[in-house]
Amino acid sequence: MTVGSRRTLGVCYYPEHWPEAAWAEDASRMVEAGISRVRIGEFAWSRIEPRPGELHFDWLDRAIATLGSAGLEIVLGTPTAAPPRWMVDRHPDMLPVDSDGRARGFGSRRHYCFSHDGYREECRRITRRLAERYGRNPHVVAWQTDNEYDCHGTAVSHSENAARAFREWCAHRYRSVDTLNRAWGNAFWSMDYRGFDEVGLPVRTVTEPNPAHVLAFRRFSSDQVVRFNRVQCDEIRRHSDAPIVHNFMGRTSGFDHYALGADLDFASWDSYPLGFLMDRAGASPEEKEQYLRQGHPDFQAFHHDLYRTCGAGRFWVMEQQPGPVNWAPWNPAPMPGMVRLWAWEAFAHGAETVCFFRWRQAPFGQEQMHAGLLLPDRRPAVGLAEVARVARELEEAPEAGTGPARCALIYDYASAHAWEAQPQGADFDYFDLCFDVYCAMRRAGLSIDVLPPEGRDLGPYALVMAPGLLECSPGFLDSLNTCKGRVVLGPRAGQKTSELAIPVPMGPNLPGLRATVTRVESLPPFADVPLAAGGVVRRWFEALETDAEVFERTRDGRPVLAGGGRVGYLAGWPDARALDRIIRREAALGGLPALDLPPGLRVRDTATHRFWFNYASEARTCGGRTVGPAGVRWEPLDRSCRTG
Ligand code: GAL
Repeated sequence: MTVGSRRTLGVCYYPEHWPEAAWAEDASRMVEAGISRVRIGEFAWSRIEPRPGELHFDWLDRAIATLGSAGLEIVLGTPTAAPPRWMVDRHPDMLPVDSDGRARGFGSRRHYCFSHDGYREECRRITRRLAERYGRNPHVVAWQTDNEYDCHGTAVSHSENAARAFREWCAHRYRSVDTLNRAWGNAFWSMDYRGFDEVGLPVRTVTEPNPAHVLAFRRFSSDQVVRFNRVQCDEIRRHSDAPIVHNFMGRTSGFDHYALGADLDFASWDSYPLGFLMDRAGASPEEKEQYLRQGHPDFQAFHHDLYRTCGAGRFWVMEQQPGPVNWAPWNPAPMPGMVRLWAWEAFAHGAETVCFFRWRQAPFGQEQMHAGLLLPDRRPAVGLAEVARVARELEEAPEAGTGPARCALIYDYASAHAWEAQPQGADFDYFDLCFDVYCAMRRAGLSIDVLPPEGRDLGPYALVMAPGLLECSPGFLDSLNTCKGRVVLGPRAGQKTSELAIPVPMGPNLPGLRATVTRVESLPPFADVPLAAGGVVRRWFEALETDAEVFERTRDGRPVLAGGGRVGYLAGWPDARALDRIIRREAALGGLPALDLPPGLRVRDTATHRFWFNYASEARTCGGRTVGPAGVRWEPLDRSCRTG
């Protein structure tokens, strides 16, 4: 796939927020700035259908015509993330319910439960009406379903409807209640059920619920999101050939994004680097200070690499921060140059389009403090000039095919759900573990594909890392068989069954590696275990019984990384220092040269070019190249130094 001719810029626009007289000027200023795509409609239900059945498409017709005739290509959102007030009156039990049994009410957005059949049918109806009307409109080049499933923690709902649907899901998955009792180990604490009608939701129990029950409920909740989205895809496809996309969020695990992505034509995600640094990148206080105006140097890259896979190789950034946001605990402004850097980094990871959120700052509503490309008074905001610069650069920049990376990180939603159900330590977090490994790979200059555990040809990869993987499923072992490079599992990998029980023989049960984890410890922050070669293992440490070669040991001689041949096992959660050493060693074994990147400097190799990105606030030099603060640089790839 080449991205050169397909790389474009876009913007999110809300015609319903502005007087109609402003639309044409907005459109021509977008085009002037080099923007060629515009996403609209995703929260406009109350304006499209102000009263049940009373459809007002006239304004949307005119908005699409105005934007389209200015030369803009339109992405039309289904408005289902923001059900209007009358909808809640019509279906009072459609609201999502929290784990304390309280309904999450009207007055913001995403106030619906994925298990409410009536609301799902309302969504089918409005999607059908939109698809019938705009499915062949020449200006509509893509559809977006809903908006950020699971944002604001909405994938899981504890409503009566969810409980009913969960019982049906259990009956379908387990067939007989005895099978369910066996799978969940319900002999424990007399939890056996006599029929599926007795199965409830794993909440409001006296002490912790059965982790297998929690995991089943999380799997069910994920399936409900996928099913909800599929209804919209099916309706759109009946009336339109335009591709369908959804805008995923950063660090959300409420549903299996690979499964949902399989119903899309490509994927997209919403990138808010400064907001994410503050509220979800797991950054230390020092990193927050260092990257306050740049964002975490690996967080965007991780999601580009993940969502590229969810979109079967194709993705967009549907929303990118253009200035301060409003929703993080603190909302600083980007360092000059970062809006450009974030866009170029997305393109280097294969994005076809980068859209900015939003065109003009809204003077009202919850996001009135969120920057746009224009100020509320229509003057340009700071970000606009950087966007226009990227647009100019895109005309001259080289074509840069994405090409497969040579390294992979396995990232799995069932594992995320399992370790949320059974963390075993207060700070054990699956995303943090995977992200730590990913960051170490990036610090070594490697380019990475983030992949699901099953159904992949691992043949092209010289190094595959699989931390925290719930189980070594037959599907995963099949994938592993295709890999000719190095594979390192662990910590906490392959030690459970798919139902979160301990397998016998005990894990990880890997081909070509005689190793068993006989005991695990979770460790508080003051109990790090020093390693012989430097650095520590923290949070999680396993006793590994093995006669394989040991490459890393604790200072007192216990094995931490073992395994000859192709497969290794890592028996603890190393800090950055130790991880850097481990990744470099594994990369070398896989035949990949690592780079010595100074702090904040990152690279990404495409099939033809190496891109450099400097997240530091000072210039950085590597291999004779200097990249200024917030700088971007690219050069034809010297194949001999290709890192992936
Ligand atoms: C996104 C969302 C947008 C807007 C934006 C503000 O998560 O999709 O609708 O709320 O955040 O940063």
